[in-house]
Amino acid sequence: MIELAASILSADFARLGAAVRAAGAGGASVIHFDVMDGHFVPNITIGPPVLKSLRKATELPIDCHLMIENPDDYIPAFADAGADWISVHQEACRHLNRTLHLIKSHDCRAGVVINPATPVDAISEVFDIIDYVLVMSVNPGFGAQKFIPSTLHKMRALARIRGERGWQFRIEVDGGVALDTVEDVVRAGAEILVAGNAVFGNGDPKKNAEVLLKAATEAALQRV
Ligand code: DX5
Ligand code: ZN
Repeated sequence: MIELAASILSADFARLGAAVRAAGAGGASVIHFDVMDGHFVPNITIGPPVLKSLRKATELPIDCHLMIENPDDYIPAFADAGADWISVHQEACRHLNRTLHLIKSHDCRAGVVINPATPVDAISEVFDIIDYVLVMSVNPGFGAQKFIPSTLHKMRALARIRGERGWQFRIEVDGGVALDTVEDVVRAGAEILVAGNAVFGNGDPKKNAEVLLKAATEAALQRV
């Protein structure tokens, strides 16, 4: 099943409640919450207080993407603030196994994220722990960047490995997902599509979400 995870990074931060409602009305079934610390990535965004407020504005699952160093220090605060899913970067975790178990100990779904330059092999030892893999299709730090096509083979590899070995993780993609790239990512095996600029950048977020999800669903039908 294809799901659209609307990234509020490109929304109007003064009107986040309205933004998540519009995305949900357009079919987004997940809200993607981008956390940046100015160290792991060259940008700073939002933290647990904003998540706590947003939690009251939506019943959709909130997918918390931690682009931060020392994520173990903050995972409890994000879980307490209402995160349903929490993902951490392989590149930021010295003890990835421990960090993923920490997320699960807070009753959140645990995801691991790989940057465009990180191979799938780097996470092969945690396939049995994770609920999802997030493949970055841009270098993290900013919205509205250009999709990097060389990341597609990693979605294909993950889908293949999962089928061969019977793992259960889902495959998420983040960065540059829009009408011109959605077919490629879905055909490559992505099931949870993060989109920020394509939903909130221009025009009506509800309509944008509807159109993107329709294109994704059509591509998924062709895949079968
Ligand atoms: C980028 C973030 C993304 C971002 C994607 O570092 O992790 O979630 O919002 O934005 P778009 O869809 O605009 O590429
Ligand atoms: Zn993200």
